[in-house]
Amino acid sequence: MLHVSSHPLIGDCMARLRDKGTGPDEFRSLARKVISLLLYEATADLPVRRGTVMTPLGPAEAGWMEQEIVAVPVLRAGLGLLGPVLELLPKVSVGYIGLERDEDTAVARIYYNKLPPLAGKVPLLLDPMLATGGSGTRALDLIKEAGGEHCRFVCVVAAPEGVRMVEDRHPEVQIFTAALDTGLNEHAYIVPGLGDFGDRLFGTGG
Ligand code: PRP
Ligand code: URA
Repeated sequence: MLHVSSHPLIGDCMARLRDKGTGPDEFRSLARKVISLLLYEATADLPVRRGTVMTPLGPAEAGWMEQEIVAVPVLRAGLGLLGPVLELLPKVSVGYIGLERDEDTAVARIYYNKLPPLAGKVPLLLDPMLATGGSGTRALDLIKEAGGEHCRFVCVVAAPEGVRMVEDRHPEVQIFTAALDTGLNEHAYIVPGLGDFGDRLFGTGG
């Protein structure tokens, strides 16, 4: 299931993230803002334990989010999304998957895989660009192999091709994205997209 945010705050961040004149410092800050807002949407239906807390003036109804979540950033660009996840989620652990697309074929190669126990927890896959879908589906395969179920996939920009691949191979996964773009160019980059997320995040674009 695909959720494309229509929130104007996300739209404002996206306008500045996409702008080719935005440098790495501002890009990192905008990426943190977008992911915080997307996280708000991606966790809206998680269970809450109800109870009471004493304020200085008396009892107040309260709710605690006790669902354990395992955030899984896909190296390297997914690291740019991890900070707000660790700040906002009360019960979170982290697993890492390293995937790199071959520059010529755009096929993703795994170079790192370290996931904590996933049974009973909600896996939250963090990868900013869902382009061909090769990286996302590979990461979802690994999460499933490690016992993860009903993963939520948070990205910043998605292409229809990538969404279709995830929906075909992992139909139960919910995708939360800030934008659904037109398609891919001949190098499998998202159009209009925002360029190479990892390079813009880490200032490695030359
Ligand atoms: C980017 C991005 C995704 C992948 C998406 O990573 O962060 O992981 O491409 O493309 P796909 O849907 O066609 O697989 P990249 O391989 O450029 O590595 P990086 O994060 O190290 O920059
Ligand atoms: N990876 C990126 O960083 N950008 C794209 O447009 C596609 C894959």
